[in-house]
Amino acid sequence: MTDQELTLETHSLGAATVEALQQAIAHRRSMGIARLKPDAVDRSLIEQLLEAANWAPSHGETEPWRFTIYTGDSRVALGEAFAAAYQQDAGAGFHEATFEAQKARALMSPVWISIGMEPALKSDGSLRMDLEDERIAVGCAVQNLHLVASAQGLAGMWLSKNIFIHPHVAEFVGLKSPGQLLGFFIVGWPNIPWPAGERGPVSEKVRWAE
Ligand SMILES: Cc1cc2nc3c(=O)[nH]c(=O)nc-3n(C[C@H](O)[C@H](O)[C@H](O)COP(=O)(O)O)c2cc1C
Repeated sequence: MTDQELTLETHSLGAATVEALQQAIAHRRSMGIARLKPDAVDRSLIEQLLEAANWAPSHGETEPWRFTIYTGDSRVALGEAFAAAYQQDAGAGFHEATFEAQKARALMSPVWISIGMEPALKSDGSLRMDLEDERIAVGCAVQNLHLVASAQGLAGMWLSKNIFIHPHVAEFVGLKSPGQLLGFFIVGWPNIPWPAGERGPVSEKVRWAE
């Protein structure tokens, strides 16, 4: 047996698992709020997502990902936080209808997961790792979470703009500086057929140095 064959035999999860993993990676899709059914999602499925997220890598084993889960009635207060964030920024352009729409938005996904980053600190309060590495680790955690969600047939999407990263909303979900709110991950059962993904050829992004 060659060294490579021995390694494959003792450490590989097997060709079928590798193939299934590749399939799961390509199957993962982002679907926004309009694509979600209002039906609740079993807590045990959400727990599987969070367990997957928790296996993400992190520089210095800092495990900086922090999640708060909003389902059911807890979404009402979340909607109020979105609306308050909108109001803080709206100034003279404030519209009552938009304020109410922000509140209603939180009820349009059955599950909201706040995506937080809390960096590890040294005893003097300074950062143990740089913030970029801490944020990247959270991105890895969200990818794990999203892969398992898609494998379960759950629709989801990372929302990373505007009120979803607003300081008022960050405070509401329990994050304070140097922690950061990186957005929300919405989860629900899809109300459309599973969409096909699209990518440009990998060959355009890869160069084999010779
Ligand atoms: C860090 C990050 C932030 C994202 N933020 C948003 C967002 O704010 N709004 C949005 O519609 N999609 C957002 N997305 C989802 C992308 O639009 C989506 O991944 C992309 O269209 C590719 O589709 P796919 O995930 O189905 O392969 C985000 C994705 C990532 C990785």
